Amino acid sequence: MAVTIRGKTLPLPILQGGMGVGISLERLAGAVAACGGMGTISTALCGFQEPDFAADPQGANLRALKRQVRRAKELSHGVGMVAVNAMVATTQYANSVRTALKAGVDAVVCGAGLPKDLPAIAAEVPESDAALAPIVSSGRAAGLICRLWDKHHGRIPDFVVLEGPLAGGHLGFSPEEARQAQAGRPKSLSSLLQEVLEALAPYRDKAGRDIPVFVAGGVKNGAEMARYMKEGAAGAQFATRFIATEECDASEAYKQALIAAKGEDITIVQSPVGMPGRALRSPLIVRVEAGKQPPVDRCIRCLVPCTPSKAPYCISRALMAAARGDWENGLFFCGAGAGEVKCLSTVREQMDEIMREWRAAE
Ligand SMILES: Cc1cc2nc3c(=O)[nH]c(=O)nc-3n(C[C@H](O)[C@H](O)[C@H](O)COP(=O)(O)O)c2cc1C
Repeated sequence: MAVTIRGKTLPLPILQGGMGVGISLERLAGAVAACGGMGTISTALCGFQEPDFAADPQGANLRALKRQVRRAKELSHGVGMVAVNAMVATTQYANSVRTALKAGVDAVVCGAGLPKDLPAIAAEVPESDAALAPIVSSGRAAGLICRLWDKHHGRIPDFVVLEGPLAGGHLGFSPEEARQAQAGRPKSLSSLLQEVLEALAPYRDKAGRDIPVFVAGGVKNGAEMARYMKEGAAGAQFATRFIATEECDASEAYKQALIAAKGEDITIVQSPVGMPGRALRSPLIVRVEAGKQPPVDRCIRCLVPCTPSKAPYCISRALMAAARGDWENGLFFCGAGAGEVKCLSTVREQMDEIMREWRAAE
């Protein structure tokens, strides 16, 4: 059941997916790690609650990140692992990775773009021996990142997160694929898993070690995790179900909006990042769809691919509003299984439930 990652033991095969903005910070990540899983802090605008955020967002984010990584490690009591999730598309990507590594994070997981240079950034912080992992949505992307890391940096991923089309947040699929998945015709996570395992096989042989793959996106419970593990996955990554926990860093209003949501309240939105995303159909989304959202005025240049004059809304402001629980103006990311989250619980209860279901299905 335990997974070996870069020579360290992760007691439980459970990853908590990074959730920006402000949804998975030190409390959630630390609590998951204390239970033996891998808890993940999202670096995306993680300093948005700092008093000087408006004047110096970049400085505030990096200062907060350093503190959050250290605090999550303390909360973990050294049981599981603490990771950061950094989105390649953010302007602070490289600086966030460096800061997290210097603060002693156990793993860096990167998506929303191909983290081609991640090993080079990590090499700038020789005191860290953190595990490095890409998030991929296809065998092609898994093979490409292995080839690039091996050729240019002599490094092979320590593990891989495979995110399917039922995930929350930004998706590595077309809006049509994401909608079809929601309608019950998902590009099967099982077939994507086989593609990824095949693409990794030569690199596994070359490295002489396993490259654990964690499946993510609509993995409902421990029984499904057990099924994917029989098909070759090392474990699973969960995100949405961890929002409705006492330890989650989101506001109470976010948790209650998720608990109240039904399947029909979940929609696919076009994000200014240039990728589709899955979210609750909040008033902001209704205004954007109706062309009634006012144009973006202030901009803190958080994303590389965003053009504020063309963006339908400011994603940073919308995600920060959601983290604060502002239902009118917030973008509430969630996975396709959000309708199944029925009540508030604790991280310990969630972890125990997943492992109970896993054991029963073993
Ligand atoms: C609120 C929310 C925010 C997310 N933010 C990010 C993010 O910043 N970076 C990222 O790589 N993935 C993000 N994700 C995706 C999750 O990390 C995870 O892979 C996925 O949602 C797992 O599926 P599940 O929610 O069905 O369990 C987010 C998901 C949610 C629900």
